[in-house]
Amino acid sequence: MARADRFLNALAGKPVDTTPIWIMRQAGRYLPEYRATRAKAGDFLTLCKTPELACEVTLQPIDRLGVDAAILFSDILIPIEKMGVPLAFPEEGPRLQPVRDEAGIAALRVPDADAEMPFVMDAVRLIRRALDGRVPLIGFAGAPFTLLTYVVEGQTGKQFTETKRLLFTAPRAAHALLQKLTDTVVNYLAAQIRAGAQVVQLFDSWVGQLAPDDFRVFAAPYVRTIIERLKPLGAPVIYFANDGGSLLADAAGLGADALGVDWRTPIDEARAKTGDDVTLQGNLDPCLLFAPIPQIEQRAADVLRRGGGKRHIFNLGHGILPPTPPAHAEALVEIVHRIGSELHRIK
Ligand code: CP3
Repeated sequence: MARADRFLNALAGKPVDTTPIWIMRQAGRYLPEYRATRAKAGDFLTLCKTPELACEVTLQPIDRLGVDAAILFSDILIPIEKMGVPLAFPEEGPRLQPVRDEAGIAALRVPDADAEMPFVMDAVRLIRRALDGRVPLIGFAGAPFTLLTYVVEGQTGKQFTETKRLLFTAPRAAHALLQKLTDTVVNYLAAQIRAGAQVVQLFDSWVGQLAPDDFRVFAAPYVRTIIERLKPLGAPVIYFANDGGSLLADAAGLGADALGVDWRTPIDEARAKTGDDVTLQGNLDPCLLFAPIPQIEQRAADVLRRGGGKRHIFNLGHGILPPTPPAHAEALVEIVHRIGSELHRIK
């Protein structure tokens, strides 16, 4: 079986020769070649908005690591800027002009992705051409609840008090914002798929802040809508509910082809909650890549064993961290492919 088929086959529940692997944030600051391209761009947003440079960094980890999928280089906050929320990326992380009231929410727009973010679709087309069929390309967007936290907090949340104040004191305004974010995400992902993204992932990085009852009101219905509206386009959807161990049974009912699982929930326990009709993706703790390679092997083998070689895509339990030695990421891919092929031979 060709490397190019593993990831799509695992998403579809078809046989694979070994467990496919890609790494969230695989193009990033832990790679010296990423830091060089980032320096050439000047700043992070320019890197995201220059298709040739976005293509260059997307490709950097593909052959170096030997991963089974590429992921578009961009950021979940790009469409929010086009909704009318000014965005900057100083060293401390993203900064937005927060929107917290009904009037501010009413003033936000649903951007036309092809017209207003042509640099993203141009990057997708360039990447597909440069990949030349080696591995499939994943497009992505933030899920509505996670995007709402950035709009309302104006930065990465800490206690998420402004977010929860909006949800619990002005639910009508919160739902209006979630609906606009949902329409934006559907339009944006549909444009990525038309441009050539073969799979899309929804990142719900902060949804673990919600109690299950609130997940069912403020997150799940919007994710379900996005998946339903994208379905006719035929690209599989991965839903990553970070810190979502208590939400997994609900998440399994949203129609996604795969669920991302963070490192806090062992894959076999996740499987018991989701049933067999969905692919699971994950979930080595990213900090284990700081450890010596034999320890990485032992822990990756445990993740693979818990995945049981059934509808499992290997990944980290969240994004790879800047202090990671690149050689350890390379070793992880070799380990997963080697042990994964044994797992699939004995079945
Ligand atoms: O996975 C990939 O390789 C694709 C690229 C990608 C980036 N951001 C590049 C990036 C993806 C998929 C994202 C998604 C994203 N962005 C998420 C969801 C995933 C997650 O980690 O939960 C979130 C929450 C964001 C928002 C964001 N972007 C934050 C909070 C930060 C600052 C923190 C940090 O890691 O630096 C960013 C910046 C960012 N996005 C960087 C990269 C490579 C670092 C920017 C730099 O080069 O300095």
